[in-house]
Amino acid sequence: MHVKPKNLKTRPARWQTVPEMLLLTTLLAGGCGSDSPNANPPSEQPVGQPVTDSDASPGPADESPVISPSVTGTTALGPLPSPPLSAPPSNDDEPTVQDTRLHTSTAMPILEDAATLPAPPPPIGISEAEFSAGPLAPVVLAPPGVDLDENQPPYFENLDNITVLAGQLLELNLAPIDPDGGVADQYVATFLPRSRSVDNDDATKTIFWTPFEADVGIRDFTIFALDAENPELRVAYTIRIKVEMPSDPSTIENTPPTINHIDPYTVRVGDPVVLEITATDPNDTVPTIEISNLPPAATLLPHRDIPSVHVLRFVPEVAGQIALEVIARDALEPTLRAEDIFIIDVEAPARFTHEGGRLRELADARDFLIGFAASPNYYHRADGALYADTAAAEFNLVTAENSLKWDYVNPYPGDYRWADPDNLVAWAKANDLALHGHTLVWYAQLPPWVLDTPVASREGHMREHIDRVLSRYRDDIKLWDVVNEAIDEDGSYRPSVWYEAMGPDYVDIAFRQARASAPDATLIYNEYDTEVKGPKADALFALIDDLQANGTPLDGIGFQMHLFTDFVAFDDLAANMAEVASRDLDIYVTELDVSLRDSDDLAEQVAIYEGVLSVCLLQPRCKALQTWGFTDRHSWRRQFDPLILGRDYQPKPAYLAIQRRLGEN
Ligand code: G3I
Repeated sequence: MHVKPKNLKTRPARWQTVPEMLLLTTLLAGGCGSDSPNANPPSEQPVGQPVTDSDASPGPADESPVISPSVTGTTALGPLPSPPLSAPPSNDDEPTVQDTRLHTSTAMPILEDAATLPAPPPPIGISEAEFSAGPLAPVVLAPPGVDLDENQPPYFENLDNITVLAGQLLELNLAPIDPDGGVADQYVATFLPRSRSVDNDDATKTIFWTPFEADVGIRDFTIFALDAENPELRVAYTIRIKVEMPSDPSTIENTPPTINHIDPYTVRVGDPVVLEITATDPNDTVPTIEISNLPPAATLLPHRDIPSVHVLRFVPEVAGQIALEVIARDALEPTLRAEDIFIIDVEAPARFTHEGGRLRELADARDFLIGFAASPNYYHRADGALYADTAAAEFNLVTAENSLKWDYVNPYPGDYRWADPDNLVAWAKANDLALHGHTLVWYAQLPPWVLDTPVASREGHMREHIDRVLSRYRDDIKLWDVVNEAIDEDGSYRPSVWYEAMGPDYVDIAFRQARASAPDATLIYNEYDTEVKGPKADALFALIDDLQANGTPLDGIGFQMHLFTDFVAFDDLAANMAEVASRDLDIYVTELDVSLRDSDDLAEQVAIYEGVLSVCLLQPRCKALQTWGFTDRHSWRRQFDPLILGRDYQPKPAYLAIQRRLGEN
């Protein structure tokens, strides 16, 4: 039976105010680089500017603040909250040694957290009351300079909350309208599992979705209407979709399970290979998993905590390609099954030695740091052993890509997950790599419980978090991104739960707390798009001046540098680094990757890696260059092959260019 939302009210009478913009900003979080295909959300209205309502509750200051001179100046921090606002780490959070059959490490034990599943599992976060309150009011996202009276924002008609029964087909018709005429476009920001989207020839879109038992609950569904004349002018609509169980569950079709596909891996002969195979069933049952061509002496174990995961472990003894035939069977009807083939390319160890010095040897010789960002739990992946050994050979500095972020290390109040950072610290110390902590205070990757904290308590929560993380790693991690990405695209402060609570002072407070908690650590501010001249770089310099005038303990600046192969602004980079150096600060290239705009842009990729390294080496205050990963097989932008080793771990021309440049004076 189809469920079609009934035709309901027309475009809303008013647009969104700033506080809900914060929510949307969080929704849109992630994605960096000024012009990436996963581009950042279009620049929001200047922070603090209510879009249309005079009654909008503005941010801390009710005009659009520039970066400086906004820091009002905290001289000394008071004591941390007592009693603590959230339970501090306890012995219950201490990781334990993991069963060796579940990981790829042979040189050192791997720790695991007490429980990798939240208890109880988090609900699909919207309450009945929120559902009954109706959809969120639309939020206008307008690039600077757009006159909304001249170019009226596009809108959707007939959008309202929807209730659908599990097993029923929902047909959602989406028809954006541009009041100025022209054909508005649209962008669906929320993925509905196993849904199908059809672009109709009248510029409308129809989404077909059959929810099952696993989808029961209430979820947000966000879509954007894009202006016909200026697609940067867009309006976000968020409705709520409630999935309920039918009175007779037997009416729900039993559907086959699905297997999470795994792309090919490259591994070495003799290394332990571990593959976490995930199979799920929309009917919320747990499929069985089998491999019809199990490698010799392999084990296939259910994951201790995650029912949908089985762990395959084996040690390949000969080179060649393994094509694992994976079968998942429905728990209720085993004839209902899914199949997939996972490719493991096994290479002789000799394939991974190459001419010329290893990068870290060349960097050590010039007292320079060459580093990478380590994927979380790399030792739970098939190529974990090759990944770890390659990194230990090539780098003398390592950052945790995700596992020291708040949503990883403290997903629930009082619940700490130290295992992955502990494992990375142990591995780095065993292989003589320095460690770079990322990141203590950011607007993104915050656990829901932090987003829900009362505004008045946020400073305390922020300071407790900084103190707890730094206290644990004080002796091992000596370089920290204290605050990440506080500056918005237009040079104003980026909206965030931190800015909403403390205004510009949150940056100063975070650094003061970090200094108090880890007096020996080098504390840096990390930002993207500051390698080119423009509002963000200007705002960075102003922020530095502001903080330094205020006595904030700031030691350095991180230039992230998530680039594409059209980057040519090496002079801007050198000039901006010189601006930072002139303020007696150290400089770190913290997250370099160079995404290919076109698969044959390799020459441009080489020139950019070599050019950025040269600018850094010629700037005495530039202490380190880190890439955001090192093999294309594990990159946040894997689809653009942005790194220096291929998916097969073979050196790319960019690696050779870095190797060559490090060897020159
Ligand atoms: O771990 C979960 C996994 O359990 C789940 O199945 C999967 C699908 O939902 O998500 C996994 O978490 C993802 C995580 O990366 C690990 O892969 C998150 O959804 C995803 O949001 C997260 O993306 C990270 C991104 O920051 C978040 O903004 C990227 O890996 C990470 O490379 C990227 O790094 C940022 C820096 O911290 C700051 N500078 C910009 C840089 C790129 O955005």
